Amino acid sequence: MTGTQDWVVSSARQPLRGELDIPGDKSVSHRAVMLAALADGVSRIDGFLEGEDTRATAAIFSRLGVRIETPSASRRIVHGVGVDGLQAPDGVLDCGNAGTGMRLLAGLLAAQTFDSVLVGDESLSRRPMRRVTGPLARMGARIDTAEGGLPPLRIHGNPGLRGIDFAAEVASAQVKSAVLLAGLYAQGETIVREPHPTRDYTERMLRAFGVDIAFSPGLARLRGGQRLRATDIRVPADFSSAAFFLVAASIVPGSRLRLRAVGLNPRRTGLLLALRAMGADIVEENRSEHGGEPVADLVVRHAPLHGIQVPEQIVPDMIDEFPALFVAAACAEGTTVVSGAAELRVKESDRLASMSAGLRTLGIPVDETADGATLQGGRLGGGFVQSHGDHRIAMAFSVAAQVATGEVGIADVANVATSFPGYDRLAGGAGFGTFSRS
Ligand code: S3P
Repeated sequence: MTGTQDWVVSSARQPLRGELDIPGDKSVSHRAVMLAALADGVSRIDGFLEGEDTRATAAIFSRLGVRIETPSASRRIVHGVGVDGLQAPDGVLDCGNAGTGMRLLAGLLAAQTFDSVLVGDESLSRRPMRRVTGPLARMGARIDTAEGGLPPLRIHGNPGLRGIDFAAEVASAQVKSAVLLAGLYAQGETIVREPHPTRDYTERMLRAFGVDIAFSPGLARLRGGQRLRATDIRVPADFSSAAFFLVAASIVPGSRLRLRAVGLNPRRTGLLLALRAMGADIVEENRSEHGGEPVADLVVRHAPLHGIQVPEQIVPDMIDEFPALFVAAACAEGTTVVSGAAELRVKESDRLASMSAGLRTLGIPVDETADGATLQGGRLGGGFVQSHGDHRIAMAFSVAAQVATGEVGIADVANVATSFPGYDRLAGGAGFGTFSRS
């Protein structure tokens, strides 16, 4: 993050139109660098997200002795060092804003022959790490945290980890992935059981790198001691970034947008189900696959929305999309109820609190509960809202501004660059009003 920065976002009072290329998937980009670094041989990554989060992960692997070339934007050539080839870093490793970076690296670094320290920015330094240090400790890992299980993580490398059979309490792909990455190094078998299936990119990608791993929704198991074979990865466009345009085009009258080749992993697309249940008009065209991941163009047209009760079983499949969903709900006719979403309180900000407060400022009645909220759709006014340095909150309110009766000021937006560099330019090109900076 490059200092505090605010936006004042207006609407151009025109339909949103065009064909957009959304940047690469954040989850896939993090994992592609990690696994390519651990592989034997050279891997090429195409469509790599040039966001601050994923660049921080790449920079960490450079510090761990991995040569990573950037032949052009969104491309990386990673000279893998093998599972046993990482080198001790010469100082602390900075994950920036990235929970995925820190939690996955915790699993990987716990199994090394050297010690390391993971630090993060202000927001990441408030996020819970016991969910990973707990199961890793059962494998024999030694990780010291700050008070309350918070970062920084001081990792005392232990190459003698043991596999575990772990039944996770929270549905978290980051926790599952941290345990599986440690399991790659552990003696015997590591099994992860989830209370609800989460995104399976780590499992799919480990298999693409030649690892023998068995997985089905909610369950993954692998044996330690395996090597990875370099492979090329094509990163699909990030559904979570596309989500803002799906909602924007749905709520701005007369809009029609085509979002090209968006990743549609079923563990990511809960928002499509929710928006369609609300009456959204979103069609999938040109279906294909990018490196084993389903992708399609999403063509979204304006449609009147109505409130729904969001089914709790799809919450994990849309866990990053609630800021966008809240804006859709604010513009829908009637009431929308969200429940079973307490995890939103420990994201880059407390997203239930951030969205509820901001929407109230813009005139929407919101009843916040411990694990969700009840929203009454209505007319959005202008106002000044806090993003709490959370990229997705900032982008969500810029979407709300497109139908608000006045300008929307959004505080602390610099972190949009963590996941969606160039968001304001792309949005402006699609017909959003101005994003003035202050
Ligand atoms: C991610 C998993 C999710 C998600 C995050 C990315 C991943 O977090 O919210 O943006 O890449 O594994 P949790 O594992 O905390 O649910």
